[in-house]
Amino acid sequence: MCGIVGYIGNKPAKDILLNGLSKLEYRGYDSAGVAIRNENGFDIIKSKGKLENLKNKLKDKNLFGTCGIGHTRWATHGEPTEFNAHPHNSYNENVVVVHNGIIENYLEIKEKLVTYGYTFYSQTDTEVIAKLIDFYLNETNQNPIQAISKFMLRVTGSYALAIMFKNLKDEIYVARKDSPLIIGICNNENFIASDVPAILRYTKDVYYLDNYQMAKISTNSTIFYNIDGMEVKKKLTHIQMDLSSAEKNGFEHFMLKEIHEQPEAIEKTIKSLVKNEDIFLDRTGITNDFLSKIENIFIIGCGSAYHVGITLKYVFEKLANINVQVDFASEFRYRNPVLLKNTLLIVISQSGETADSLAGLKEAKKQKVPTLGIVNVVGSSIAREVDYVLYTLAGPEISVATTKAYSAQLVAGYLLAIKLAECKNKINQITRKELIKDVIEIPDKISVILKRQNEIQMLSSKFVNVKNIFLIGRNIDYAVVLEGSLKMKEVSYIHTEAYPAGELKHGTISLIENNSLVIGSISNINLAEKTFSNMLETKSRGAILLGFLTKDIRSTICDYVFEVPQINPLFANSLVIVPMQIMSYYLSVLKGNDVDKPRNLAKSVTVE
Ligand code: G6P
Repeated sequence: MCGIVGYIGNKPAKDILLNGLSKLEYRGYDSAGVAIRNENGFDIIKSKGKLENLKNKLKDKNLFGTCGIGHTRWATHGEPTEFNAHPHNSYNENVVVVHNGIIENYLEIKEKLVTYGYTFYSQTDTEVIAKLIDFYLNETNQNPIQAISKFMLRVTGSYALAIMFKNLKDEIYVARKDSPLIIGICNNENFIASDVPAILRYTKDVYYLDNYQMAKISTNSTIFYNIDGMEVKKKLTHIQMDLSSAEKNGFEHFMLKEIHEQPEAIEKTIKSLVKNEDIFLDRTGITNDFLSKIENIFIIGCGSAYHVGITLKYVFEKLANINVQVDFASEFRYRNPVLLKNTLLIVISQSGETADSLAGLKEAKKQKVPTLGIVNVVGSSIAREVDYVLYTLAGPEISVATTKAYSAQLVAGYLLAIKLAECKNKINQITRKELIKDVIEIPDKISVILKRQNEIQMLSSKFVNVKNIFLIGRNIDYAVVLEGSLKMKEVSYIHTEAYPAGELKHGTISLIENNSLVIGSISNINLAEKTFSNMLETKSRGAILLGFLTKDIRSTICDYVFEVPQINPLFANSLVIVPMQIMSYYLSVLKGNDVDKPRNLAKSVTVE
């Protein structure tokens, strides 16, 4: 999704802004632009498409301004054109703005502004922001904080804003509601960004702007204000993330690097929760007594996070014998979910900023049930809104297609399930110890699979030209094929569908033809014969069969097999997903796709 950077200091802003924007490219975007101060106003330069286009435009321009803002835009209102790209300005560049988020009532405001003589050149909601702030600037006798505050009271929706005013040469202003914004602090220079990697190279000391807060940033100072325009003090945070986590470190793509980082991401997450073979949730604030009283679980999330929820449903039900429901956050928020007494609402999110997940969480809070977030990004909106937060320690994930965060979410969920089962007296001590041991062994087993990457590369080369891939599985294997299917389609652009193995014959089997690829995932020996039968049904209609099987399962029908190490079937998803991720990666590479930034996708979806 959109990205914001800003700089004010003594160095030329151009390269700093471009560098920052390049670090936000992973979020997904389709146009980019910068506004850099000059002696009389601003140079505003924008371009459609890749950042490279903007760089080329800026190459020969002598821009020496030391203050500026930049943006990568993922189109929502209006096509990805140069006109619609940010920064936007009021008129005469009086107010220049970059914006992440969506202003919901922008059309109504636009109509009002037209009656006051404002004209509009773009289809965006952001241009309305620039003009509305300009309008309030005139109303407040040119007081920027009052003008922004009036804007905040007038609009509905979400925003992170960086704003420059033509007449306030040494300042950049920022404001936020429901879309992240950080201010990086340094000696004689300050930075603005919507996400840490954009400024990591320059500073690790940041302020997180809160909802309904504003700040005035100059070279040597940052002053924060609440919505009433009163000054507020904020705590400086030192970011732990290191620069190398935002670099490829010898890997050709972030996706491959992050696939290989999975053992480490999982191990870190386990170590943060397991000591001496026992699970401790103290860091989350959750107590054993609290867990013992939970009778229902509701899990919400989007994309891969939702798939983690589906997997965890099986694990929670099996271990803790508890009623679990899972829903897409985008659906949950618009129906009438009935959250019974003693329900724990779990929201899963890598970024902690996904708009639908955040909205679903707010819906649950209205019903006053306790909420737990399984979140990767520290200090993110979801992490701050939930009652309890269980952090996954996957580190920053740059590739749009999630891999290591997904895997870390799974193990965090497994450990929560074991703890819940323990607190509800559903498992004895021996079983608990065995289960924890099974989880602890996951990273090593993944490392074994990663060493066989070449085998999967070879397999992928056989299937690069297939038009359709059908993935089937039963029980937890159904949950893993959901994720495998999503991974394949998002990066390879091959049409894939995931089905419960027994369900394919109720319609979708009509799509099977000669050389359709059917992938079966089987990790539970008790269900193996059933799934093999369903695979055979497709083979007799011309399908090629590829099996992802655990070591104990033998196939006589598959054309190709990739075997993963033996594991407790409850946790098999953590292993089976790895060859599926690697296959997705190679299908994408072989097709010449932009692996880390697949078309039309965004890393963190901060709009509905
Ligand atoms: C986007 C990403 C997916 C991700 C989903 C949820 O669609 O492309 O990979 O699973 O958002 O993101 P979250 O940050 O909430 O886990």
